[in-house]
Amino acid sequence: MAGGAIVNTAGGKDYPGKLTLFVFLTCVVAATGGLIFGYDIGISGGVTSMDPFLKKFFPEVFRKKQLANKNNQYCKYDNQLLQTFTSSLYLAALVASFFAATVTRVLGRKWSMFGGGLTFLIGAALNGAAENVAMLIVGRILLGIGVGFANQSVPVYLSEMAPARLRGMLNIGFQLMITIGILAAELINYGANKIKAGYGWRVSLALAAVPAGIITLGSLFLPDTPNSLLERGHADEARRMLRRIRGTEDIGEEYADLVAASEEARTVRHPWRNILERRYRAQLTMAVMIPFFQQLTGINVIMFYAPVLFDTLGFKNDASLMSAVITGLVNVFATLVSVFTVDRLGRRKLFLQGGTQMIICQVIVGTLIAVKFGTSGIGEIPKGYAAVVVVFICAYVAGFAWSWGPLGWLVPSEIFPLEIRPAGQSINVSVNMLFTFVIAQAFLTMLCHFKFGLFYFFAGWVVIMTIFIALFLPETKNVPIEEMVLVWKSHWFWGKFVADDDVHVQMASSGAKAAHA
Ligand code: BGC
Repeated sequence: MAGGAIVNTAGGKDYPGKLTLFVFLTCVVAATGGLIFGYDIGISGGVTSMDPFLKKFFPEVFRKKQLANKNNQYCKYDNQLLQTFTSSLYLAALVASFFAATVTRVLGRKWSMFGGGLTFLIGAALNGAAENVAMLIVGRILLGIGVGFANQSVPVYLSEMAPARLRGMLNIGFQLMITIGILAAELINYGANKIKAGYGWRVSLALAAVPAGIITLGSLFLPDTPNSLLERGHADEARRMLRRIRGTEDIGEEYADLVAASEEARTVRHPWRNILERRYRAQLTMAVMIPFFQQLTGINVIMFYAPVLFDTLGFKNDASLMSAVITGLVNVFATLVSVFTVDRLGRRKLFLQGGTQMIICQVIVGTLIAVKFGTSGIGEIPKGYAAVVVVFICAYVAGFAWSWGPLGWLVPSEIFPLEIRPAGQSINVSVNMLFTFVIAQAFLTMLCHFKFGLFYFFAGWVVIMTIFIALFLPETKNVPIEEMVLVWKSHWFWGKFVADDDVHVQMASSGAKAAHA
């Protein structure tokens, strides 16, 4: 069958050991790296819909907003500088993720998280104290550097710490923290907007220091992963760590596999060049396409601009912040669904179901808006009608939250062999950030020009990506990372790119023997 891997993933290799409390706690701390990312995503939309903030930094948008009731609803927020405020962070994260790849490899995953948290902390202070647009944007850039480092190191850390059969669940802890960060930001915006003296936006921006403090301090207590310890030549420590995290003495086989993978990795001088080799074509394609598609679902239109969007739909300021809170709640709870199903149902089922749900909802939302605003953008939406729009937006968010949201980070973090893992993850993060940036920068302008058609536009993309998954993504649940090559080898399409020799060399245990033969 097209797309279905022949490898029996359920019966894949399983190492002894259990989910120890130690691993669980380390993963919780590491996953808080997702909080800083989520907080940023959730905070900007609310802040940019607050009048005192607009008056101080973007007076032109404020003036246009006052007039908008009479004019085109679709265009009232269309302003390049305002979009730059939101998007500058993602551009910085993009650049940072390349440096973060080297730091993650040379110093370990832990210091990469620490560095990210610290930079983020400084950015939060600068933002909270901002007196002009320059301070705002420099602050956002520092936040972005922090996000770049955290998004590079956290997913890899989680996938390496987790026992294979629970990797999906633990890795999705990252996405769960992202959604909690978004929700926290939306709640804070809701409260801060009520501060009469008009400095609510400062509270919103400065509170980013809280999640940053958690990951900065937390990372100091985190152990490094056995994979990373080995990679940096600390064999004894790696063995001790593996025993500790698996809670058993019986780690011989897994350890041997890690050593083999790490020896193989050591012979690789140029991970960036290697990733371009034919045998890694599948991984490279996924590292580029998955984050690209994740952003083209249009999710961040809701996440960044929900308050602005709801405001555009004629909700009052307070009501639009409240609706953002509702979508934020749905996002968190729907992510839990994937936490508990991803290692049982597998990645493909979630991708296909979630995608279909998103397509249906986007078409409905686009149509509902078209009916009321047409192409002129002039009109009013009655309360009951608006509630229906919110319901479908929530169903769309739920579909994303158990598919592309978590899997967009999980799948790329588990498909690379160690030798190209940091390089692969960098590509994943930077493509994600690039398109997050593009959407953040272009959405308000696109809304102004595409109008309700914007929802059809994203629905079209979700159709394409759902077909892509059906055809090209094999199931990766329960497969130990260092054995992933078997999955590609037995795929109807990618199998052609993997020679028999590659399987032996890449496969950790047999790889060691082959390499030394
Ligand atoms: C995406 C973000 C998005 C978030 C929503 C993440 O996986 O990378 O761009 O805002 O999910 O929950």
